Amino acid sequence: MPRMFIASERRRQGAFHVLLLSTGSVASIKIPLIVQALLADPEQRFEVQVAATNTSLTFYDGKSVEELSKGRSQVWTDQDEWGFWKEKGDPILHIELRRWADIVLVVPCSANTLGKIANGLCDNVVTSVLRALSPVTPTYLFPAMNTFMYTHPITARQLKVVTEELGYKVIGPQGSKGLACGDIGVGAMTEWTEIVEIIKQCATVPNDNVDPLAALPEHALYNECT
Ligand SMILES: Cc1cc2nc3c(=O)[nH]c(=O)nc-3n(C[C@H](O)[C@H](O)[C@H](O)COP(=O)(O)O)c2cc1C
Repeated sequence: MPRMFIASERRRQGAFHVLLLSTGSVASIKIPLIVQALLADPEQRFEVQVAATNTSLTFYDGKSVEELSKGRSQVWTDQDEWGFWKEKGDPILHIELRRWADIVLVVPCSANTLGKIANGLCDNVVTSVLRALSPVTPTYLFPAMNTFMYTHPITARQLKVVTEELGYKVIGPQGSKGLACGDIGVGAMTEWTEIVEIIKQCATVPNDNVDPLAALPEHALYNECT
């Protein structure tokens, strides 16, 4: 029996719903720490879910997140996405996740996923969430990659698209520092503790009665894309 996620059943009144999207950087090992820190908030302000690329799960065990959170947080994958849906009317995981989220953070954001986002590709649950996301949902990217990946000319072009055209906020990477691969230079993800602080600063209790479609420019409500 596949696991299920229905946004309306999982939203907790008064909570701030944090969706972490983890991708294939070594910095993914910080995901359990970020989840644990948010769930330990003394005022219990946060609910946290994670969607991960298959490569990201090379670096941490999704089950460990579920265990440490006592089942409150789960790590969703492409296997869940396709396990959910059998026929018209069944819930679609990436749509349910975007309905649930008050904030979305790509943490860490790999060079590969950055390239996909900048080009509108959506071939897994992580990039499908982003492509289906309401433009009013705050979205943060935390790049983490080798120095030469980060300083590659294509990275600057892609960051320009995601910030200027998509309106995402990009934070980091850190300046010169020893990387997991042994190189020293720019590219390490922002410290995980800082990411937790950023999320805490963003936390405002959402109004569940606001229609996200109402925030779209008027022309977007017509089928101009078709
Ligand atoms: C051990 C190891 C560490 C890696 N670390 C990074 C990294 O920090 N940043 C990055 O952009 N890619 C890194 N890669 C390469 C990505 O995992 C690879 O490009 C992958 O296709 C990313 O897939 P995803 O974006 O779908 O998660 C690493 C690969 C390996 C084998």
